[in-house]
Amino acid sequence: MRSVGETPAVSIPGSDGPTSLTTVAVVGTTGYTGQEVRRLIDAHPGLGAPRLLTARHATADAPGDAPDAPEPFHPERLDGVAVVFLCTPHGVAQPLARTELERGCRVVDLSADFRLRDPELHARTYGAKHTAPELLDEVVYGLTEHARPRLPDARLVANPGCYPTSVLLPLLPLVSAGLVDQDVPVVADCKSGVSGAGNTPAPSNVFGAVHDNFRAYAVGGHRHAPEIKQEAGIRKLVFVPHLLPVFRGILSTIYLRPVQGASAEGMRAHLQDYYEGEPFVRVLDGEEGQPSLADVQRTNRCHVALAEQDGHVVITSAIDNLVKGAAGQALQNMNLMLGFPEDAGLT
Ligand SMILES: NC(=O)c1ccc[n+]([C@@H]2O[C@H](COP(=O)([O-])OP(=O)(O)OC[C@H]3O[C@@H](n4cnc5c(N)ncnc54)[C@H](OP(=O)(O)O)[C@@H]3O)[C@@H](O)[C@H]2O)c1
Repeated sequence: MRSVGETPAVSIPGSDGPTSLTTVAVVGTTGYTGQEVRRLIDAHPGLGAPRLLTARHATADAPGDAPDAPEPFHPERLDGVAVVFLCTPHGVAQPLARTELERGCRVVDLSADFRLRDPELHARTYGAKHTAPELLDEVVYGLTEHARPRLPDARLVANPGCYPTSVLLPLLPLVSAGLVDQDVPVVADCKSGVSGAGNTPAPSNVFGAVHDNFRAYAVGGHRHAPEIKQEAGIRKLVFVPHLLPVFRGILSTIYLRPVQGASAEGMRAHLQDYYEGEPFVRVLDGEEGQPSLADVQRTNRCHVALAEQDGHVVITSAIDNLVKGAAGQALQNMNLMLGFPEDAGLT
């Protein structure tokens, strides 16, 4: 067993690491994010063939005969694995992460299991008691652009939710700089493609319900609201998600009141300065128009624009929910955990 935090052998141009390919594992490989993680691992120059695992099957029986069928999750199958990507529904990752950490692996959890720091808030939000609360203190919330200094030593990374990623990337630097009036709620009006709901069919996400249609859902009670409030450090948030008749992509429109003396122009300048040189976050100039899903689909990019209307600042932010909102950000985090260039496999 390798000791936790030990960097495995790696070698790619621009990397500080030593030689040979690194082994990672993916749990939940048949889901949308699991497939996306696999696609990105295949394109990553420093990673070898991933170990594909499933935690859905309780026995050690192989779930299928295909050459890339996942093996049942078993601690021994983690030997030699540097990082495990958990692409499983919430609730599943808590015991898995504990086992993986004990085995000397590092973990990037794409589910919501480790995102909320308060176990009571987690229980209220997700309807079940947290079963690994002892791990919450060490979790690094992996909004990469804001988590960089902590990632090289992180054992357990909570990959942010897709909606929170689209909202927090523009909002967080503005709140931190004291530019947002916190006496009025921030309004996040967000629209997602149907892949955001995962690959389990439900009456609300089958073709007949989504095609040629558009509606809000979970109004007043979506689980990503506490996550956005926690990470942005805001008291009041109105968050309304909508289901778009497209497969991938999120467009979030954020309405906020600036503090006295602040303006959309000043906020744009602040964000452009903040994200200058970032490989994946682009704050558009006033004349460049609006972010669109087509510009970010299948990329790890987030495009942001700002405008002003009647004393409010309107921010639009577009990402691909399966890439910057899930698998791409997970690989970006892994790159920093293992000492790869941050954009390795992502450009
Ligand atoms: N979809 C998005 O845009 C998105 C974005 C950010 C975060 N996330 C989060 O990422 C996680 C995965 O999302 P997804 O969209 O990929 O979901 P998904 O398409 O529903 O896939 C989840 C996979 O997890 C495994 N699984 C299902 N039930 C399980 C159980 N009871 N026990 C163990 N494994 C089980 C299955 O894979 P195997 O049968 O191969 O094991 C399944 O294919 C979720 O927690 C989700 O909230 C999703």
